[in-house]
Parts: sequence; C-alpha cells; structure tokens
Amino acid sequence: MTQEGVSVRNARLGDAAAIAALTKEYAGEGIMLERPVDNIIENIRNFFVAEHAGRVIGCCAVAFYTPKLAEIRSLAVEGGWKLRGTGRQLVEKAESILRDEGVAEVFVLTLSREFFLRLGYGEVEKEYFPQKIWRDCTRCPKLMACDEIAMKKTLVPTNIQT
Ligand SMILES: CC(C)(COP(=O)(O)OP(=O)(O)OC[C@H]1O[C@@H](n2cnc3c(N)ncnc32)[C@H](O)[C@@H]1OP(=O)(O)O)[C@@H](O)C(=O)NCCC(=O)NCCS
Repeated sequence: MTQEGVSVRNARLGDAAAIAALTKEYAGEGIMLERPVDNIIENIRNFFVAEHAGRVIGCCAVAFYTPKLAEIRSLAVEGGWKLRGTGRQLVEKAESILRDEGVAEVFVLTLSREFFLRLGYGEVEKEYFPQKIWRDCTRCPKLMACDEIAMKKTLVPTNIQT
C-alpha cells in the first residue's frame, strides 16, 4: 500500500462494472479500447485493480501470447488519481505476475510514451509483435489510422534457476 492508501490486488467479479466504466471513459476519448463487462468477466483472472477506501480507482490487465511474450493492456487510472503513483503500482504488479510466469518480454501499445519510458520501456516497431496485429488490431476502429506506439521491456523471470 502507498502513503495515500492505494493498494493493488487481483480483480474480482464484483469489480467488472467499475473496470468497464474506467475503460469506457478513456475509450470515449480515443485513448484506449473499450472492454465490455462480459469481456472483462470472461478475462477477470487477468485483471488487477487499484483500490482506495474500497473504491476501484485504476485497472490493468495482462494478455499472454507465447510462453515468453505478454502484453500489459487496459491500463487506466481515474482522472483525479493521475500522477500519484497508481499507474506505476499497477504496472509493477502486472510485471511481477509475468515474471512469476516466466515471461521474458512484455509489450504495450500506447499513447502514453512518457509514462512507459519512466517505467523502463523502450519504443520498438509495431511489426516486432506480429501476433498482436492479428488478435486485436483487426477489431480496432483505428485500424487504418493507428496512432499508438509499441513499447517493450525485458523482464528477468523469477523462475529461472541460476
Ligand atoms: C497512463 C496512466 C495509466 C498513468 O498513470 P498515473 O497513475 O498517472 O502514473 P504514475 O503517477 O504512476 O506515474 C509514473 C511516472 O510516470 C510519469 N508520468 C505519468 N504520466 C505522465 C505523462 N502524461 N507525461 C509524463 N510523465 C508521466 C510520472 O510523473 C511518474 O514519474 P516518476 O517516475 O518520476 O515518479 C494514466 O495517465 C492513464 O490512465 N491514462 C489514460 C489511459 C492510458 O493512456 N492508458 C495506457 C494505455 S496502455
């Protein structure tokens, strides 16, 4: 928990509506893909939430592509809580789960370049991740005018024996 009393935990089914509301707000601004409640429920084990005084103020999810490659997605922090370390807490939680799974490389498709630079991500060509293009981009309304950049970070998996 941070000084401000924000904690990050695995999402529960009861969080699905709050997660959907967060993604809907930013989807309306064209910043991220909306995640409908049924889609969130289906993937609830891959979501994390940031909570303050029992209220969800942020979320993020992981998506697995290969045993070594995963994505951090659906990252959102409520407007009034931005720039107080919540986004970092969410991403660090997701990274720790990925490390435990043995994932060596994590990527994001994002408009938030400066934020991810601060967290140690570097920009790469989108073509570096062909699987992603086929899974999600085809259903994105921005397909032919994508303004997101791809960024990646190398993780040192915790399950590697030295
Ligand atoms: C991107 C987002 C999740 C960041 O969350 P946040 O809680 O505001 O970020 P944090 O406070 O944890 O910031 C971590 C670091 O990044 C920096 N940072 C965050 N947003 C930044 C911005 N827009 N420009 C420059 N630096 C930024 C912070 O200053 C902080 O720096 P520090 O390491 O010196 O302390 C939040 O702005 C958001 O929800 N944006 C809309 C949705 C979105 O773009 N999601 C990403 C889709 S992949």
